[in-house]
Amino acid sequence: MRAAVLVPAAGLGVRLGGGLPKALRELGDVPMLVHALRSVLAAPSVTAAVVAAPADGVEDVRALLARELGPEAPVTVVPGGATRQESVRCALDGLGAPFPVVLVHDAARPFVPVDVVESVVAAVEAGADAVVPALPVVDTVKEVTAEGAPDGTKERVVRTVDRASLRAVQTPQGFRREVLAAAHAASPGGDTTDDAGMVERMGVTVAVVPGSEDAFKVTRPFDLLLAEALLNRRRAEAGSAEEPG
Ligand code: CTP
Ligand code: MG
Repeated sequence: MRAAVLVPAAGLGVRLGGGLPKALRELGDVPMLVHALRSVLAAPSVTAAVVAAPADGVEDVRALLARELGPEAPVTVVPGGATRQESVRCALDGLGAPFPVVLVHDAARPFVPVDVVESVVAAVEAGADAVVPALPVVDTVKEVTAEGAPDGTKERVVRTVDRASLRAVQTPQGFRREVLAAAHAASPGGDTTDDAGMVERMGVTVAVVPGSEDAFKVTRPFDLLLAEALLNRRRAEAGSAEEPG
């Protein structure tokens, strides 16, 4: 028993739009949540998952996952909360078995590669309290202020940040179980969207491992296009690998 993954999947997907909760939006006829679970459970170290589903859709999500992953899949579904932090807390409470390493992975990141998951788990097993996968920031980043400029524009630049020391953080984030539990116990009712941030506020060191472009989060409509393109490429690659000779 090495690692379990908590999958917050109870969000509305307001920025994506389209009605359905985001985790249930389909990519290539398969809900995003199913892609995300398949991706993270493909890592040999991860042998259980707890999904925080929209509170009014728990039975539907159970039926969906039994159908898509099989009735024996090691997945528990619990009702999520009004914020991501609450949903993670609900999932943590729903994790029965004493896994020493707990990952938190967004349902909205359908295509995280196995090697990213494995390197997060490996870093916790090697002694880190908390681990995040991250990528260098490619854009120039500027700090702005809402005090407009005299020309009527709404914001002006305060300074340009040195991007060499900046990272864009992804999931799965990995924790020693006690560390994640302590972080949630320390700030109940908050609305933090970054579990590692809660751990940092306790003064605990967070380690960084390389992330992957494939682990991007589907947030806005453009991301859905990107996700569909990535899925099509993967399906084409899998298809050509299966062709004889
Ligand atoms: N999430 C959750 N419970 C919430 C809010 C978010 O489980 N109350 C989950 C989402 O389902 C998603 C992950 O947290 O898998 C990352 O959140 P985000 O990308 O912000 O998704 P949404 O909150 O659904 O999107 P939006 O903020 O645009 O409404
Ligand atoms: Mg959100």
